[in-house]
Amino acid sequence: MKTIANTNLNEQVIRPTFARSNLKTRIVHLGFGAFHRAHQALFTNEMLEKINSDWGICEVNLFGGEDLIEQLRAQDHLYTVAEKGAESTDVKLIASVTESLHPTLDGKAAVLAKMTEEQVAIVSMTITEKGYCADPATGRLDKNNGLIIADLANPQDPSSAIGYIVEALRQRREKGIQPFTVMSCDNVQENGHVARAAVLDFANLVDVELASWIEANVTFPCTMVDRIVPAATEETLTEIAELVGVEDLCGIACEPFRQWVIEDNFVAGRPDWNVAGAEFVSDVVPFEEMKLRMLNGSHSFLAYLGFLGGYAHISDTMTNDDYRTAAFDMMMKAQAPTLNMPEGTDLEAYATLLIERFTNPSLKHQTWQIAMDGSQKIPQRMGGSLRHHLAQGTDFKWLAMGIAGWMRYVGAVTEQGEAIDVRDPMVEQFQAIYAEHGLNVSAVKALLSIEAIFGTDLIANETFVSAVTDAYQLILDKGARAAVASL
Ligand SMILES: NC(=O)c1ccc[n+]([C@@H]2O[C@H](COP(=O)([O-])OP(=O)(O)OC[C@H]3O[C@@H](n4cnc5c(N)ncnc54)[C@H](O)[C@@H]3O)[C@@H](O)[C@H]2O)c1
Repeated sequence: MKTIANTNLNEQVIRPTFARSNLKTRIVHLGFGAFHRAHQALFTNEMLEKINSDWGICEVNLFGGEDLIEQLRAQDHLYTVAEKGAESTDVKLIASVTESLHPTLDGKAAVLAKMTEEQVAIVSMTITEKGYCADPATGRLDKNNGLIIADLANPQDPSSAIGYIVEALRQRREKGIQPFTVMSCDNVQENGHVARAAVLDFANLVDVELASWIEANVTFPCTMVDRIVPAATEETLTEIAELVGVEDLCGIACEPFRQWVIEDNFVAGRPDWNVAGAEFVSDVVPFEEMKLRMLNGSHSFLAYLGFLGGYAHISDTMTNDDYRTAAFDMMMKAQAPTLNMPEGTDLEAYATLLIERFTNPSLKHQTWQIAMDGSQKIPQRMGGSLRHHLAQGTDFKWLAMGIAGWMRYVGAVTEQGEAIDVRDPMVEQFQAIYAEHGLNVSAVKALLSIEAIFGTDLIANETFVSAVTDAYQLILDKGARAAVASL
């Protein structure tokens, strides 16, 4: 069978020239999903191309994605990334992956053994918000999370990413091997702090001495990651096969833009990702907030109201001037004023670039995909800004509409009466609320009472409750498109 590893690829594929045989697995990455393939693995690939370096990556999927890992192996751990601009596409062959593991295919012990190898210096993660098993309202470990309950009962046989990290660190400590850096690359506010809190909370419940050792010896740098990488569809894979000259089931398409800001705090060394365009800084938080609120916040807004308005992709929503204007205003009027950026940051230029990126018609970023896991995303993308405006008495109507859009979306039925496949760890709670209230404005207060999403302060704020209630009623009465136009 022809595969990417043994075929002459099309001329246009940009191939790395570095010697793969020099690479060592010095990074174990949890979460071989869409994003990592087009971001950290690609940055590493480009760094390897520019300087003499031996940083290679072992890819691990802890939940699902067995088929992807098997496919990656069948391709000798090579795959392609298609960077699709509005006018042209660059196709890059990625060769920074050295090996791969999956607990279902290889056993948990194999994953833990890899994480415990002496030369492994970084365990990085793109495991989605829910992978941290954190309570979204407090950011601390959620001790009622089913995975955490099971892992605490049997910490040497973990299932959660947090359980794996703590057990691998326990084994390293026991063997006298230096610890690794834990680097989150998820879209989670202060992702390093969330990872650290979850790991330390978990370790404290397992062994307080181990927890103290981790606290003293392991670092959890925060990172800000940015690149739009839609989930691969059959259409994308067909297009990639045509561009590459052979089928690549691990191939992924993304936008040309990429950004990675990393807190420079690594205990066992790090790759010089800066030569590939990453920035090492002492404080990532302002950049993260800028991105979470302006990009991700408006993305969520467009996802809920766009899906309800009948738009399948973000670029489709940008063909409607009301959505385009509302997204820009949401960035500049609802989100930008809440930020505290280093001097010289041009937020208007950033917002303009974001609208341009959202408009790229080559990217088929599904509103349904971005709409997933709203319970985990809303607090970070809109909660902080909302509280800012409520304290200042300033206008937050775009945020109220975004939240109302989310509420209407989790009602799980389109404006045409078809079922919506709502994916969210809290979906059962939403179903129970809608079973009681139906698609009715009384659902608003019930949803706002979910403390894990809204805390206890927001439901008590009448200005906020009435703004969301009005926005929700408008969506019910007139539909999402008209509701967006009203802004
Ligand atoms: N796709 C994008 O455009 C984009 C952009 C910036 C940041 N991100 C972030 O990257 C992360 C991954 O997104 P993606 O697009 O690759 O999604 P994906 O669905 O393609 O991959 C998700 C990955 O998470 C793993 N996972 C899921 N639940 C888990 C759990 N409970 N514990 C451990 N691992 C778990 C899966 O094994 C899979 O590898 C998300 O946090 C997302 O916010 C994505």
